[in-house]
Amino acid sequence: MSGLFVSFEGIDGAGKSTHIARLHQHLFSRGLDVCLTREPGGTPLGESIREWVLHQPVDVLTEVLLMFAARAEHLRQVIRPALQAGRVVLCDRFSDATLAYQGAGRGVDRVMLRDLATQVEAGTRPSLTVLFDVPPAVSRARLEGLKAPDRFEREQQDFFERVRQGYLALAQAEPERFVVLDASQPMDAVTAALLRAVEARLG
Ligand code: TMP
Repeated sequence: MSGLFVSFEGIDGAGKSTHIARLHQHLFSRGLDVCLTREPGGTPLGESIREWVLHQPVDVLTEVLLMFAARAEHLRQVIRPALQAGRVVLCDRFSDATLAYQGAGRGVDRVMLRDLATQVEAGTRPSLTVLFDVPPAVSRARLEGLKAPDRFEREQQDFFERVRQGYLALAQAEPERFVVLDASQPMDAVTAALLRAVEARLG
C-alpha cells in the first residue's frame, strides 16, 4: 500500500480534534490527498455503533466487540481503499484506543484485545501514531465546559489516569511508531509540534 496511515490518540479533553483539523487543513493546502476519518465511526455502520457506545450503557465485552466491528468495516470500506489509492489517512483513534480504554481503563484482558486487533487489522496498522498526552486534571477542566458529556467523558479522573498510563506504555513499547506530544502546552505550540512530526514522516 502506497499511502500513509497516521492515527491520533489521547484521553478525552486532550484537544486532539482541534489539532487534527488544523493538520488536515495544512496538508490539504499543500495539495496532498487526505482522508480524514475517525473511530468509532467512518462508515454508516461505524457511526451507528458510535451512537450506541457513546450514549447507551453496554456490557464491557459488548463495548469491545462493537469497537472492533466498527474497525473491521472501517478498514474494509475506507482505510484500505484510501491507502491503496496513495492517500494520507488521518484516523482519529484506532486499535490503541481499545487497548488503552477497554484494556487499561476497564481492565479487559490485553492478550484477548491484541488477538482481536491482529485479526481485524490483518496487517493494516498506522505507521505513525501521535499521542496527545495530558494529565487528567488538565483535561477534566476542559471537559467541564461540555453541555452533554458522553459515557466516556463522564468517567472519573482515576479512569483517565489508567487510560493515560496505558497509552504511555504503548508508546514506550513502540517508540518508532509513536510520537508523544505534551498537549498541556498552549494550542499553537502543540499544533506546531504536530505539523513537524507529520512533515518529518512525509519526507
Ligand atoms: P472521541 O472522543 O475521539 O470522539 O472518541 C470517542 C470515545 O470512544 C472516546 O471517549 C474513546 C472511546 N473509544 C474507546 O473507548 N475505545 C475505542 O476503541 C475507540 C476507538 C474509542
